[in-house]
Amino acid sequence: MDIYEKIVELLKRRGFLWSSFEIYGGVRGFVTYGPLGAELKHRIEEKWREWFVYKQGFVEIESPIIMPEVVFKASGHLDHFTDPIVECLNCKRKFRADHIIEEATGMVMEGLSPKEIEEIIKKENIRCPECKGRLGQVNVFNLMFKTTIGPYSENRGYARPEAAQGMFVEFKRVFTAMREKLPLGIAQIGKVLRNEISPRKGLIRLREFTIMEVEVFVDPEDLSCPRLSEVEDEELRLITAEMRARNEEKPLVVTAREAVEKGYISAEWQAYFMVISKYFLSSLGIPWERQRFKEQMPWEKAHYSKQTFDHEVYLERFGWVEVAGHAYRTDYDLKRHMEHSKVDLTVFKRYKEPRIVEKVIVKPLEDVIKTDFGDNASKIIRLLKNIDPRELKNSFEREGCYEFNGNRIEPRHVKIEVKKEKITGRRFIPHVFEPSFGADRLVYATLECSYSVKENRVILKLPRDLAPIQVAVFPLVNKNGLPDIARDIWNMLKEEGIRATYDDSGSIGRRYARADEIGIPIAITVDYQTPKDNTVTLRDRDTWKQVRTPVDKLLNSLLDYFKGKKNFDELGIYQE
Ligand code: GLY
Repeated sequence: MDIYEKIVELLKRRGFLWSSFEIYGGVRGFVTYGPLGAELKHRIEEKWREWFVYKQGFVEIESPIIMPEVVFKASGHLDHFTDPIVECLNCKRKFRADHIIEEATGMVMEGLSPKEIEEIIKKENIRCPECKGRLGQVNVFNLMFKTTIGPYSENRGYARPEAAQGMFVEFKRVFTAMREKLPLGIAQIGKVLRNEISPRKGLIRLREFTIMEVEVFVDPEDLSCPRLSEVEDEELRLITAEMRARNEEKPLVVTAREAVEKGYISAEWQAYFMVISKYFLSSLGIPWERQRFKEQMPWEKAHYSKQTFDHEVYLERFGWVEVAGHAYRTDYDLKRHMEHSKVDLTVFKRYKEPRIVEKVIVKPLEDVIKTDFGDNASKIIRLLKNIDPRELKNSFEREGCYEFNGNRIEPRHVKIEVKKEKITGRRFIPHVFEPSFGADRLVYATLECSYSVKENRVILKLPRDLAPIQVAVFPLVNKNGLPDIARDIWNMLKEEGIRATYDDSGSIGRRYARADEIGIPIAITVDYQTPKDNTVTLRDRDTWKQVRTPVDKLLNSLLDYFKGKKNFDELGIYQE
């Protein structure tokens, strides 16, 4: 059994998570979080909020999962969010065409069209991996789940494949509500769906999963990140696209500032978020040696991205796996939504002082144009009314005329006036930086990094603030009134908001082992001394060390411990 199998077995047995719809045989790509898993996932989401929303002064929204077709027409997902698919002509099973070539030949398919993939399948004589039948035509398959909105088949809707479109579509309202200030970070944590053709990596490739995303809207004329200076000396481990092209796998270690100055990372905001991403993953217990940032090659990048770095984590079975993407989306999305909705999504930025600018106005001289151009006159007049006056003026200065579809427009066809105008600000479409995380992959990565074995016993060394259950309360034995005292302590802790459990079945050793296996950081044991002096034993999950502490100090000690203000050794008096 490799570590993945061991963890999957533990997660199922102890009720963290498992493949959904088990009683009907299961469907790949769906997972159900049980009592412990749901709590762990919430804690990871909450930690992400701390790093990417609260500490940044950003805001969070919650927008619908189903969106009308026009949203994805505008966003480009209808055209571009596809994978190549091929069907076996014999057994009719369908596969991801690029993946079966990779599996059969080891060749990595990079940026090829369906036709090119099909030719490779023919040339290499690749057959169906299940029945060895011949494979058919390669087509593209859109990964969005399709539905209808209401009972109207023409009213098509799609389940969102990313939360980001919610932030773009609702940008105008949020911007207004937040008093029209940039930079503006809008975050969202929610479910997204991707109809993967044949997901094979268990928890790593799901069809329905939780995304945690921020879209930061900034002024394109000021792409500087005001907070980069706070973290600029932090090291990043990068594998740039150029390094990948040279097959260099050893990461380049540079500070965030250097990475921007040397042009490895295209903008300060991206470098800043990559550092925050490092802090966030480290706070989940994922060691820095198991993290790196890999730039996507041009053919891997999503259609909207100018540059993307994947934040990857090393997992024993799967190797380096992407858990986050840091993309510079420019003004792509807002521009497209403006075009499709016809709603103005530009923002207005007031100058500190009004500016006086020269405005060039072009007035077509219609009589002269009609005489010279006859039937073409109306087209020329329309052109001159819409043309950028500077373009015309420059062409007159350079060439003495302006050529349009073989027509020579000369200065005598227009009157050019230059007026001075007072302007108070400028309008523009904001640019967007996006850090985007897959919560479910992070749940698995957190679990794998916390999985350890001591004396043949599994200990889940989850960071204390992620543990689904914070403390376990045990009576040493089931007699002498100890269970009553233990239950009172358990009730008191629950009342005060500590996630506590009570267990009185089996030997104390077995109870400790059960608690360690699900990562409960502290076990509290009520023993024979408790009725005498009102003290209990606290046991540390990771070291198995024990301290004794008075019950009336217990709550405050635990609160301090879980806030990270005290270490275990400071919770009481050490005892052998
Ligand atoms: N919004 C990031 C992604 O779709 O992966």
